[in-house]
Amino acid sequence: MKISVVGCGYLGAVHAASLVELGHQVVGVDVDERKVGALCQARSPFYEPGFQDLLEHSLASGRLSFTTDVGDAAGARVHFVCVGTPQKHGEYGADLQFVQAAAESLLPVLEAGELVAGKSTVPVGTAARLADMFGDKVPGALLAWNPEFLREGFAVRDTLHPDRLVYGLPSGADGDTARALLDEVYAPIVARGTPKVETDYATAEMVKTAANSFLATKISFINAMAELCEATGADVKLLADAIGYDDRIGRKFLDAGLGFGGGCLPKDIRAFMARAGELGADQALAFLREVDNINMRRRIRMVELAREVCDGSLLGKRVAVLGAAFKPDSDDIRDSPALNVAAQLQLQGAVVRVTDPAAGDNIRRSWPQLDVVDSAEEAAERADAVLVLTEWKQYKELDPTSFGRIVKQKRVLDGRNALDRDTWTAAGWSYRALGRRAG
Ligand code: UDX
Repeated sequence: MKISVVGCGYLGAVHAASLVELGHQVVGVDVDERKVGALCQARSPFYEPGFQDLLEHSLASGRLSFTTDVGDAAGARVHFVCVGTPQKHGEYGADLQFVQAAAESLLPVLEAGELVAGKSTVPVGTAARLADMFGDKVPGALLAWNPEFLREGFAVRDTLHPDRLVYGLPSGADGDTARALLDEVYAPIVARGTPKVETDYATAEMVKTAANSFLATKISFINAMAELCEATGADVKLLADAIGYDDRIGRKFLDAGLGFGGGCLPKDIRAFMARAGELGADQALAFLREVDNINMRRRIRMVELAREVCDGSLLGKRVAVLGAAFKPDSDDIRDSPALNVAAQLQLQGAVVRVTDPAAGDNIRRSWPQLDVVDSAEEAAERADAVLVLTEWKQYKELDPTSFGRIVKQKRVLDGRNALDRDTWTAAGWSYRALGRRAG
């Protein structure tokens, strides 16, 4: 099937290449010439395990192209909208200008019987509004909402092997046509028996924001427990293990530490609250404000902890920050808790050196005031404290004995509860972590 994908960021680029893998002919459209240029030359514009290979493979098949000209989307039977919905400046709501622009850009190429399938995370009500617009301007064109649940670091796997498909469909015969087109797009995934949930537009839009709100709540729950652990001397890691054995609770997303960041969870819970307010249902999501507060408090607590271990003052202290991406296996620094802490430490007078296996260039571009170095060893040279703020495998595997020879003071702060406390303390380090007793 010929398919177009409008918006070739994280979501769109991976989706486009994955659709080729599923057997289709795909044209990826984006307004950003640099991004399109890189993708055409098989250069991934971001770090994502497995994506570079997938991109090369899909381009080599001759069935994938990227362009800035939306005219090339003509003739596609399905047009996916994969553009970003960032938080508005100074407001909680989502900025829908890119979704609107993408939808309008399709109007000249769209034909009756073709399907526009929205994948972007949007406030509930957006799909119905877009369906009205398409209905007015291109009678017979169809709209479905088909949210995506991919996680950065696992984007390729999550796209090719999703745990569920969600189709938000129009009613009646249009719904049948839209369903049939989506089933054809995802044929190999459907054939494997992947669970499929068919809904109206509003439910499909809410599935995504509800899922992300639940995940954020789970993380903030365990981080609230971490605050209590700090007050009582209990251990949040053992607590998470113990409650996680109850399969009604589950151990996943109960890793206490610096909390959530990235381009999705923080802005999605805020946009959800904003939308609930518009709908007069703000009380229903009032708890998400607390989820957000708990999350942001962890960053402040981390800075306090660093000051505490640096004998009460950060002024002039050399602090090594290992990890800057919002999570490992990603170079994404959007709303990164690690960078937030690094910047705060610097503002409070510490001499901060940051390192990250993948995000270095992004930090240099967006945070030129931070000193970025290429290795953990360089960052830790004569450091008064070492902070592990993103749990990259290479930091978990550091040898505390040899690493201890580089630093001035063997003080480690484990912002992600990711290090083996016993090995580090046995090597003479003082170990501190959020929600756990000093070791
Ligand atoms: C998230 C959703 O998981 C995904 O389904 C959706 O499509 C997009 O948003 P992503 O932003 O890639 O994906 O990151 P995720 O793995 O959810 O992690 C979000 C943040 O939570 C990270 O900063 C991570 O470090 C943090 N986190 C995660 C914790 O602090 N504790 C945990 O137990 C899990």
